[in-house]
Amino acid sequence: MGRMSMLGLALVAALACTVSTQEEQAQHPLTNMPPSGSVQTAFILPSFPDKKFPAGGLVDVVVGLHNEGSEAYNVSLIAGSLNSPADFSLHVQNFSMAAYGEVIGPGEEASLTYKFVPDARLSPRDFVVALTSFYTDSKGQWYSTTFFNQTVDIVEQKKLVDWELIMLVGLFAFILLALAYWAYTTVVGWGWVKPQKKRAKRAPVPKQQGPVDLDEWVKGHPYDQYMRKRNTAIKK
Ligand SMILES: *[C@@H]1O[C@H](CO)[C@@H](O)[C@H](O)[C@H]1NC(C)=O
Ligand SMILES: *[C@@H]1O[C@H](CO)[C@@H](O)[C@H](O)[C@H]1NC(C)=O
Ligand SMILES: *[C@@H]1O[C@H](CO)[C@@H](O)[C@H](O)[C@H]1NC(C)=O
Repeated sequence: MGRMSMLGLALVAALACTVSTQEEQAQHPLTNMPPSGSVQTAFILPSFPDKKFPAGGLVDVVVGLHNEGSEAYNVSLIAGSLNSPADFSLHVQNFSMAAYGEVIGPGEEASLTYKFVPDARLSPRDFVVALTSFYTDSKGQWYSTTFFNQTVDIVEQKKLVDWELIMLVGLFAFILLALAYWAYTTVVGWGWVKPQKKRAKRAPVPKQQGPVDLDEWVKGHPYDQYMRKRNTAIKK
C-alpha cells in the first residue's frame, strides 16, 4: 500500500510539474490524466460479463495491453472511479490504485488483472465506471490509456440469508393460521361442528382382587384368641 501511494504521489508530482504552468492547484491522476501513449487495450469481465456489479462485491477486470509504440513501456498503475452518469466530473467513488511495474517491449502484449469493490452503500442504479492504466517510457514520461469507460448497473448484492423473504413467509403462514382459526370458531359458533373437548385424564383404578379376608392374617394371633373368647362370652 505504501508503495502504491508513493507511486501515486510520484504520478501526481509528475503531473503537477507538467501542468503547473497552467494551474496552481492540487492535481489528481484521475482528473488530470497524462496523454495517451501507444498502448492498445482490451478487457474482459470474467465475473460479471453483463456489467451488473454488486454493491460491496469484488469485481475483476482482465485488461490486455498491446504496445504499438517503438519503445518499451512500464505499466506502473491502474486506477479507476465510479462517476455520476449525468456528470462525469462527479467522482462518486475512487477505487484503490493497484501497482504493477510490468514492462512491455515494442510490439509485445501483457495482461493484468485489476480488482475493485463498488461501495456497499451505493444505491442500485446506473453509474459510469472508468478504469485507466498509467505507464512510463524510458525517460520517465507518464502516459495513460483508459481501457474501460462505460455505464454499468450497480445491483444489490445477493444475501446469503434473505431475512426479508423469511419474514414474508412467516407473516403469510401466520395470516393463514389466523384465518383457519377464525373459520373454525365461526363454524363452531354456527353449531355445524361440535368442539372437541379434551377428556380429563383419570387416575387408573387398581383392579380389585376380590374381597379381602380380614380373618386370614389374624388366625393364631393373640387378637384372634381375644375375639373368639369375646364371641363365646356374648353367646352365653
Ligand atoms: C475522487 O478523486 C477526485 C479527483 O480525481 C476528487 O475530486 C473526488 O473528490 C474524489 N472522490 C471521492 C469520493 O473521494
Ligand atoms: C517500472 O516502474 C516501477 C514503478 O513505476 C518501478 O518500481 C520498476 O522498477 C519499473 N521497472 C523497470 C523494469 O523499470
Ligand atoms: C469517459 O467518457 C466520458 C464521456 O462519455 C468523458 O466525459 C470522460 O472524460 C471519460 N473518462 C475517462 C477517464 O476517459
